[in-house]
Amino acid sequence: METTWANEFYKMQYEFIGDYPVEFYKESTLEILEQAGKPVYSALELGAWDGSLARALSKHVNKITTVELIKEMTDKAESLNPDNIETIHGSFYDVQLTEKFDAVIYIDGFGVGTDDAQLKLLRNIKHWMADDGCALIDIYQPEHWKKADGVEMYPDPENMPHIKRRYSYDFEENVMMDTWWHKKDEKLNNTQYLKCYTPDEIYNLCKQAGLNITGYFPHGAMDYESMKYHEHASLKECLSYRIKVVK
Ligand SMILES: C[S@@+](CC[C@H](N)C(=O)[O-])C[C@H]1O[C@@H](n2cnc3c(N)ncnc32)[C@H](O)[C@@H]1O
Repeated sequence: METTWANEFYKMQYEFIGDYPVEFYKESTLEILEQAGKPVYSALELGAWDGSLARALSKHVNKITTVELIKEMTDKAESLNPDNIETIHGSFYDVQLTEKFDAVIYIDGFGVGTDDAQLKLLRNIKHWMADDGCALIDIYQPEHWKKADGVEMYPDPENMPHIKRRYSYDFEENVMMDTWWHKKDEKLNNTQYLKCYTPDEIYNLCKQAGLNITGYFPHGAMDYESMKYHEHASLKECLSYRIKVVK
């Protein structure tokens, strides 16, 4: 199930971006808890970066487990995490977990690999959810990423003035590609490839995994003509949307 690019891309991205301050996740923490819709005593966070979101969540949730692929990120997480977070270095495709969780969350990153890989991950998520639990997963919206094909920009001109990115789109496979490089040498680049799903497609994939979608929460959208980001967008136009799933 492992893709070869994920290790290299996310390691490079972490070197460029580094850690986020916990305050960065204050709003998204409240949003996650609200979307869960009932008290969350235990949570599993997949693709947890260096644990920044988990640390923000750990003030509201009794016990959190994180699973992250990149060793540098889990090392950093372990050096900063409070006692109620368990940090696991591994892949969410094959990690073995015996516990069940009130909420499983995967914020920004779903779509690494083939449809079969996504189905396997959704089945794993179902296995890790308590019977009355839920999962919150961010899904990339194909209609948005089609419009981004060929766009080049600085991801964060203020904090990373030397880093550039280019978006492209595979119209046959519905995969968005996001290539990053240091301005000094474009040839030394890394790309992430994320499979995009329409609301109907992800509904069907979740059904195959034995999961039901009970909520769609659209995120914002980038306007590639004015190069302005809009906080609110429709489900059709958003960059990504969050699904809430239950068994
Ligand atoms: C786009 S980043 C999002 C990070 C974080 N969730 C956030 O919202 O800021 C995707 C994360 O998923 C991790 N990841 C990718 N594939 C993974 C896998 N198979 N198992 C565990 N983590 C993975 C990456 O290393 C990275 O930290």
